[in-house]
Amino acid sequence: MRGLLNFLYLFKRSQTTRYKPVILVTGCSSGIGLAIAELLASQKNYRLVVTARETSLETLYAKFEENEDLWIRPLDVTDPASRLILVGEIRQKWRGVDILVNNAGISYRAVIEHMTVEDELHQFHTNYFGPTALIRAVLPHMRETGRGKIINVSSVSGMLAMPTMASYSASKHALEGLSEALWYEVKPLGINVTLVQPGFVNSKSFTRVHYTRKSDPTLSEELYSDYYEHMTPFIERLMGLSRTTPEQVAKKVLKVIQLQDPPLWVPATPDANIFYYLRRFIPRNLLLPLLFALLPKARLWANRYTHRR
Ligand SMILES: NC(=O)c1ccc[n+]([C@@H]2O[C@H](COP(=O)([O-])OP(=O)(O)OC[C@H]3O[C@@H](n4cnc5c(N)ncnc54)[C@H](OP(=O)(O)O)[C@@H]3O)[C@@H](O)[C@H]2O)c1
Repeated sequence: MRGLLNFLYLFKRSQTTRYKPVILVTGCSSGIGLAIAELLASQKNYRLVVTARETSLETLYAKFEENEDLWIRPLDVTDPASRLILVGEIRQKWRGVDILVNNAGISYRAVIEHMTVEDELHQFHTNYFGPTALIRAVLPHMRETGRGKIINVSSVSGMLAMPTMASYSASKHALEGLSEALWYEVKPLGINVTLVQPGFVNSKSFTRVHYTRKSDPTLSEELYSDYYEHMTPFIERLMGLSRTTPEQVAKKVLKVIQLQDPPLWVPATPDANIFYYLRRFIPRNLLLPLLFALLPKARLWANRYTHRR
């Protein structure tokens, strides 16, 4: 009897599983998204949808070859029609998305006084409302199948805010808050939520930073100019010094995909761990003066125009 059971078990194990999770990745035209797409495309056990906005699709066609398990599709995460069409097509052909990687994101460099409501909305539509709408679009299939993963690429700015990046930090804080609540909501349904949190990544993404009309460095607005003058090269320097590449962040994402029960928070660079401990263990009244002292020439900021008493 035991021999028969062993034989049946071996037979079962040698059967190939036909389940190939469907993965949808946003913002694959450059940086971390491109690295994630390339890594996942090199694995043979997934069906993959790599996406970019219409204007960047050429990059994807140059990098990837479409086949029955790899689709290249346009997706602007801020556009409801674009989201609807793509999720609809995936649902029709592959029943739905099993793993969503919300990677697409933009970052404004501007002090709060230099942001308009339109700028704020652009930041939030890309980093928060778009990803959230995609989550809502893919959840029904995950709920019905009783499994699924939502992976949101956040940032250390989602735990610690920095001057001239307020709106970006706010959008990532929002994404972190949503993901934490969602973790509770979908855990009983068999769905996992993970925040992958990169700190400084050695990439050229700082060249894609958004400026507002007033923070544009080519227009010499005096007010706050010294903030930008010091923060911009400081961030670029830290990114240049970082030893973490987009490919290493992509490996973290793959690990999350492979884990049965991944954690909610996954720091993706060594400095993300440091920021986590700074935030948690340095008393609040010391944290801000400490960080302020570390920012380049911050004590001189606004000297030319402050009316401080
Ligand atoms: N690099 C870092 O140091 C770092 C650190 C922390 C967190 N992150 C996060 O990591 C993610 C990827 O950033 P990255 O550094 O790789 O930046 P990146 O090189 O600028 O790539 C961002 C991607 O998002 C896409 N995108 C922008 N707006 C979009 C929209 N409306 N719809 C769809 N796609 C859109 C861009 O595509 P287009 O070609 O169409 O513009 C691009 O492919 C972001 O969420 C970012 O906040 C990055």
